[in-house]
Amino acid sequence: MDKQLQEILNEAEVKVKQIKDKQTLIQVSALFLGKNGALSGLMKNLKNLSNEEKRVLGEQLNTLRDSLNKLFKDKENEIDDAILNEKLSKEKVDVTIPVTPSPYGTMHPIEILKKDLIDYFIERGFELKDGTDIETDYYCFEALNVPKEHPAREMQDTFYIDNETVLRTHTSAMQVRTMESQQPPIKMISTGNAYRIDEVDATHSPIFGQLEILVVDKNVTLADLIGTLEGVVKYLLGEKTELRVRPSYFPFTEPSIEADATCPKCGGKGCALCKETGYIELLGAGMVHPRVLEMSGIDSNIYKGFAAGIGLDRLAMIKYGVSDLRDLYENDINLLKQFK
Ligand code: PHE
Repeated sequence: MDKQLQEILNEAEVKVKQIKDKQTLIQVSALFLGKNGALSGLMKNLKNLSNEEKRVLGEQLNTLRDSLNKLFKDKENEIDDAILNEKLSKEKVDVTIPVTPSPYGTMHPIEILKKDLIDYFIERGFELKDGTDIETDYYCFEALNVPKEHPAREMQDTFYIDNETVLRTHTSAMQVRTMESQQPPIKMISTGNAYRIDEVDATHSPIFGQLEILVVDKNVTLADLIGTLEGVVKYLLGEKTELRVRPSYFPFTEPSIEADATCPKCGGKGCALCKETGYIELLGAGMVHPRVLEMSGIDSNIYKGFAAGIGLDRLAMIKYGVSDLRDLYENDINLLKQFK
């Protein structure tokens, strides 16, 4: 390399050696490689030279430029490494400090109950259907024989999202969705939250869990419904539990019933848990109204169906002896941990 060029490179090397920060590095690199730096000065002179001289010097200038670039790049990497190493040494983590373990969560009693019920029904050949909390007015009411202006809507006053969309007031909407999508025989359950405008107290909440049961087939009778309910109630609350069936009214079942279980605490004698009545209200049920079958595309002359909706919160309270529903929603891990 030309002596003058070699000197430039030497000078750059000396300067770079002393640099400790990026800011200075940028400034120094501009002195050599910048627009008005040493290298561009020499480039400008090229035009006054002969072709042969241009070729020789041009090549050398390229070599110089590459060497300078490498010099500054290496320095930049060196500075980056130094910054990183300093950071790492300052931010050392002491892995030997003992930690306070964060508490594990626990399965919520209502979820335990749901799982239990799902297992029970799946063993008996029922299909589990997943529904959505947000439902259309049609599936929640219309298709269940509750047209607009029907007084039964008031019994289930709900949270409207818009005129046609609601937070479902019951899991019964899944009856319709199931019947629309498949022909009998149908044996399905569906479980999840339902919503109704309600004041919160020891036994009421605007959000509550339900389990829907639907069976549609050729010779389904009310006796099948009652037998099914008896089975599940005894499974959950004990063999001694008895079911009491009362006539009731739902627009989507005919006839309709409500069913109570003998209080598992006093066995029917009367105590504080059952408010001295000996019974606990558990569910609404009935034979699927022919109009509901028809609206969902099922021939009501051939098929009959039964349906039931079990309130899970009430059931959890009884099964686990919880006297105030609000306790189940306080998210108090120590309280919830007791339930297995
Ligand atoms: N959906 C009714 C309720 O939430 C219960 C029910 C379900 C009644 C199925 C009859 C048949 O009150």
